[in-house]
Amino acid sequence: MRILIVNGPNLNLLGQREPQWYGNVSFENFVEDLRCRFPEAQLEHFQSNSEGALIDCLHQLGRQASGIVINAGAYSHTSIALADALTAVGKPTVEVHISNVFARETYRHHSYLAARCVGCIVGLGLEGYALAIEYLLRQHVPGS
Ligand code: DQA
Repeated sequence: MRILIVNGPNLNLLGQREPQWYGNVSFENFVEDLRCRFPEAQLEHFQSNSEGALIDCLHQLGRQASGIVINAGAYSHTSIALADALTAVGKPTVEVHISNVFARETYRHHSYLAARCVGCIVGLGLEGYALAIEYLLRQHVPGS
């Protein structure tokens, strides 16, 4: 099963940025760990700090995937365009936030993407990505 992991702005700095919220592990290292843990999944990872590049990625790689895991960072709280891209692509998508956004500033409590996703995993650290992949693998109907 092909699963696309999309990370938005500033998530390229995982492991360096605000470790109290986001931990000490870089996503490059973590994605290798995910590949070992889920050999049955074909995991593709895309990160960009640019909203347009994230939308282009969803249009191109998202269409070819059977499921999507997305952490759009701050764009989750602002981007109707990304939400529309998820609807247009129409693949089962899980939204992930590493930190518990509900324990933070109120402007982080709303996500434009959430209603376009099958579900959201919030505040469980990087493990949220693994849980999202596990869910998508369990739901997957081969050939779809
Ligand atoms: C985040 C939460 C967002 O509010 C923030 O802007 C991020 C990371 C998270 O994974 O906890 O960049 O999406």
